[in-house]
Amino acid sequence: MVKHLHMLFMLLAVLSFVGRVGLQKFKPDLLENKLVKVAPHAIASLLVLTGIVLVFQGGWAQGDMGWVYSKVILLFVFVGLGLYTMKSEGMKKWAAAAAALLIYFYIIGIAFSKQGFI
Ligand code: HEM
Repeated sequence: MVKHLHMLFMLLAVLSFVGRVGLQKFKPDLLENKLVKVAPHAIASLLVLTGIVLVFQGGWAQGDMGWVYSKVILLFVFVGLGLYTMKSEGMKKWAAAAAALLIYFYIIGIAFSKQGFI
């Protein structure tokens, strides 16, 4: 149940990133909308919260947490690249967006394989 919620927020988080990049290009006014501003933070918080619940629920805290730490670190990298994407222009913007998405898919890979880099 919590895992499904976690995976739902995982999907919503990446969609909200792609959506914000799209809005910036085609409908920048909408980025000022309160809901559009708050939603990504709410989704990210719920993603992390359900992740923490899963750590306890699955008893992962008793074992090797390397893959969980890897996910948390990469989540910060994803957020950083996301912020950079929104702030930059031209090739830099698209390179940062592509890198952010690659990192995100890497996190999903770690989630399934439980094989981090720590
Ligand atoms: C602080 C952040 C996070 C923590 C603490 C966390 C923790 C966890 C834990 C403990 C599980 C359960 C594993 C299991 O019982 O099999 C899980 C599953 C999963 N997480 Fe996260 N997660 C976090 C962020 C993310 C992010 C950012 C993504 C996507 C990019 C993600 C994608 C997934 C997926 C796809 C699964 C399901 C894996 C499976 O069914 O084997 N998680 N996560």
